[in-house]
Amino acid sequence: MKVAIRDIRKYFGQVKANDGISLVLEPGQIYGLLGENGAGKSTLMKILSGYHQPDSGQIELDDKDVKFSSPAEALANGVGMIYQDPLDVPSMRAVENYLLGRDSRINLAYSGATSEMIENASQLGFEIDPQAFIDTLSIGERQQLELLRLLALGAEVLILDEPTTGISADQKEGLFTSIRKLAKESGKTVILVSHKLSEVQELCDHVLVLCKGKFVGAVDIPCSTERLVQLMFKEIPPRSSRVSYIREQNLLELSQVEFEGERLTVTEINLNVRAGEVFGLAGLEGSGQKLLLQACAGLIQPKRGKIILDREDVTRFSYHQMRAASVAYLPAGRLEEGLVAGLSLTEHMALARPQQGFVVDWNYFQRETQSQIDKYQIVGRPETLVHELSGGNQQRALFALLRSPLKLLLLEHPTRGLDVLSAQWIWQLLVNRVEEGGSILFYSADLDELVERSDRIAAFSGGMMSRIVTATETTADEIGHLIGGEQ
Ligand SMILES: Nc1ncnc2c1ncn2[C@@H]1O[C@H](COP(=O)(O)OP(=O)(O)OP(=O)(O)O)[C@@H](O)[C@H]1O
Ligand SMILES: [Mg+2]
Repeated sequence: MKVAIRDIRKYFGQVKANDGISLVLEPGQIYGLLGENGAGKSTLMKILSGYHQPDSGQIELDDKDVKFSSPAEALANGVGMIYQDPLDVPSMRAVENYLLGRDSRINLAYSGATSEMIENASQLGFEIDPQAFIDTLSIGERQQLELLRLLALGAEVLILDEPTTGISADQKEGLFTSIRKLAKESGKTVILVSHKLSEVQELCDHVLVLCKGKFVGAVDIPCSTERLVQLMFKEIPPRSSRVSYIREQNLLELSQVEFEGERLTVTEINLNVRAGEVFGLAGLEGSGQKLLLQACAGLIQPKRGKIILDREDVTRFSYHQMRAASVAYLPAGRLEEGLVAGLSLTEHMALARPQQGFVVDWNYFQRETQSQIDKYQIVGRPETLVHELSGGNQQRALFALLRSPLKLLLLEHPTRGLDVLSAQWIWQLLVNRVEEGGSILFYSADLDELVERSDRIAAFSGGMMSRIVTATETTADEIGHLIGGEQ
């Protein structure tokens, strides 16, 4: 299906999220949509998929004008979008979810639906048990299910917003193979929104670049990384060389630590993190690395073993005691765990930096927030509600709320959703903290990031920690094998 976007405008108050964007997309082609944080990518895709309505401009599908008032209407016209966090319903079975959005007059028998789902899944090389409950599936499987659902409902245009976060290298390969098949054999029009340039180079035929709400250029793949970065930022960031600030003494010591999550027991963790060290954790979602960070943050209590922080026994410390001991935890779910939708940046600042007494000095917090906005280059104002920020700007807001100085910083996916320049710049701020003697324990799904940014790395699989490797002596490949449980 041919898609033409003509002079689309969408303003949010003063913010020109889409400022007159025109694009034409051809069937059978895979497009990468790139642009710095807040460039307007998600807004444009939400307009194309019926989630937002434009202030002005037209969308044409196969040369016919269309107007969507909802995602369901867009899908009925052949446009489907897979969101970064799947929108499925956790308490349902896979097959029930697969049937969501079907016209209720078409009463497809349950058994018919099951075999149809298995048939369609096998054509794309997916294996999902139709009877499995959604919350037992991995993010990758949930994306596959969502893709199957959109295809069954007749999607001809497929939009994927950062679909590879939280899935393994194998799952990514599988997803890419099926996307290629859908474009090349079934003539689907595919749009991939991503900050990972290597993935765009691997999968896409063309790249479209947005900058500050405007369309600024298109190139065909193959195209060098330097050229892509230049198109996005007009400058090429200098390659930062990794400096290590490791000191002699241990800051954090875990010995024989064991703890339990909802579905997983993590045992025999022996780990020392030195002052000034950046320690990276690898592993698929749900392998134990998140539990380890939560245990170090005082959010879950170990069943056995000992945790020492700066020579103090903190094994039984609560979250608040850990905070008081200068430990900060930055969770991955920005809007589920870290930020509160509906509250402004200033209100977050007031929550994050409690003052003495009962009277909140809003003028003080307003100024403080403005200075953090400047320092972290957040596209927003003190009164902006956090759920109105773009994905990357929400991530910046989380960093802006951190106190300093900190002894131990626990991070999940620190640069998830950040553009290349922002990611580099956030790591520079983090490195400044370790230079002062703080330590960082983080996990990331991005193996290159782990190898590039850590001093040492360990991988988790099924609640077990692998041997520890030195970043300068390892490769992303080796980390991949450790994630697979190889010693
Ligand atoms: N619902 C909203 N209300 C107010 N402002 C919004 C809303 N949605 C987006 N914006 C603003 O519009 C601009 C573009 O945001 P958008 O989410 O489209 O960016 P993006 O290119 O997807 O960025 P990222 O890479 O960070 O996800 C941002 O400045 C954002 O703050
Ligand atoms: Mg976005």
